[in-house]
Amino acid sequence: MSNSNVHSWLSKKAMAFDSSGIRKVFALAATMKNPINLSIGQPDYDVPAPIRDAACNAIQSGKNAYSPTQGIAPLVQRMQQEIDRQYQHDDREVFICSGTSGGIVLTMLSLVNPGDEVIVFDPYFVMYVPLIQLVGGVPVIIDTYPDFQIDLDRLRDAITPRTKLVLFNNPSNPTGVAASVDEIRGIAELCQEKGVALVSDEIYSQFHFGSPMRSPAEFNPQTIVIDGFSKSYAMTGWRLGYVHGPKEIIQTMIKLQQYTFVCAPTPLQHASLAAMDYDMSEHYKNYEQKRNRIVAGLKGYYEFREPGGAFYIFPKVPSGNATDFVARAIANELLIIPGNIFSRKDTHFRISFAASDETLDRGIEVLRKLA
Ligand SMILES: Cc1ncc(COP(=O)(O)O)c(C=O)c1O
Repeated sequence: MSNSNVHSWLSKKAMAFDSSGIRKVFALAATMKNPINLSIGQPDYDVPAPIRDAACNAIQSGKNAYSPTQGIAPLVQRMQQEIDRQYQHDDREVFICSGTSGGIVLTMLSLVNPGDEVIVFDPYFVMYVPLIQLVGGVPVIIDTYPDFQIDLDRLRDAITPRTKLVLFNNPSNPTGVAASVDEIRGIAELCQEKGVALVSDEIYSQFHFGSPMRSPAEFNPQTIVIDGFSKSYAMTGWRLGYVHGPKEIIQTMIKLQQYTFVCAPTPLQHASLAAMDYDMSEHYKNYEQKRNRIVAGLKGYYEFREPGGAFYIFPKVPSGNATDFVARAIANELLIIPGNIFSRKDTHFRISFAASDETLDRGIEVLRKLA
C-alpha cells in the first residue's frame, strides 16, 4: 500500500493541526549536550518517596484493574468532603479523570455544540484552541497584552448569543500572572449574569505566592473547576486530574469518560490518597524563592509582569520577534519557548523557573547577554 493512500485516510480535523510547538523544542533539547533548560512545564523535584512507595504497594497488592469510571470510592469521597467544606454548594460533585487534560477534553465534549463560541484569553494554554476546534467550537480570543489582566468590558463585549463557555486559567500558563480577586469575582459574576458556562483551569492552584488562590467557584456556584495532581506533586506522568461542578454536567462527563479514557490509572489513584496526606508546602515556598530569583535576575533587562503563581515568567523580547529571539537563545544553549506557541502574537517568550537555582543562574546570564 502506498504512503499517499495512507495519507488520504487521515481526517481533515486531524490534519488541520500542526504538532505542538513545545514538543518541537523538547525534541531539539534532546539533541543538545548540556542545555540550560528553562522550557519544561513540570516541577524540578520528584514525587516524594512515601507517595512513590504507595504507588508500588498498590501495584504489588494487585490494585491493577479498571477502577469505577468516576474514580476509586475512597478518593472520590475524600475529594468530595474537601470540596464540600470549601464551597458548601448543594449541587457540586467531583470525579477523577485522566489528568487535567482529560478533564478539559471531557468538558469540551460535554458542553460544546458545533458552532458554539468559546472565549479564551490570549496568551492561552497550548491545548485550548485546538481542542475547541476539534469539538467543532469557534474560539473567540481576547487579547490581554500588555499586562495580562482580564478586562471585564472586553469580556462583556465578546459574549454573544452563541457563546457557550468562557475558559479561564489562573494562575496562568504561560504568563505566571495571578488574577486579582476583583478580576476573578468579575468573571464569575459576568458569566452568571449572561448565563454562560465558566470553566476554571486551576492546575497551578498550589503555586500561588503570598496568599491562597481564590476560585471563581466561590462567586459563581455553577463554575466547572478542573484541577489535578500533575504539577502540585510533580506527577505529570501519572495522569491524575479531577473536575468538580454542577452534578448534571459531572454525570455527563463521567458518561463520556466511559467511552473515552475509561478511568484514571487505578494504582496511582490509590497512591494519590497518600499524596493528599503529604505536606508539599516547602516545595511551594521554594518556588516562590525561584520566582524572586528570576525576577531579580531579569529586572532592568526585560519588560515583564511579575508572576504571582505557577512557575512561568513571560518577558517581552527586546526587539524583533520571539521566534528569532529564541533561536538566538538556543544558539547559546538556552531553551525557552517563543510566545507564538501560546498566542496570536510572537512578542514574548516563556521561561519556566521550575529548575535548579544553578540552571536558573546560567539562564539569567545568557538572557542578560541577549538583552
Ligand atoms: C494551564 C494548564 N492546564 C492543563 C495542563 C495539563 O495538565 P495535566 O498534566 O494535568 O493534564 C497544563 C499542563 O501544562 C497547563 O499548563
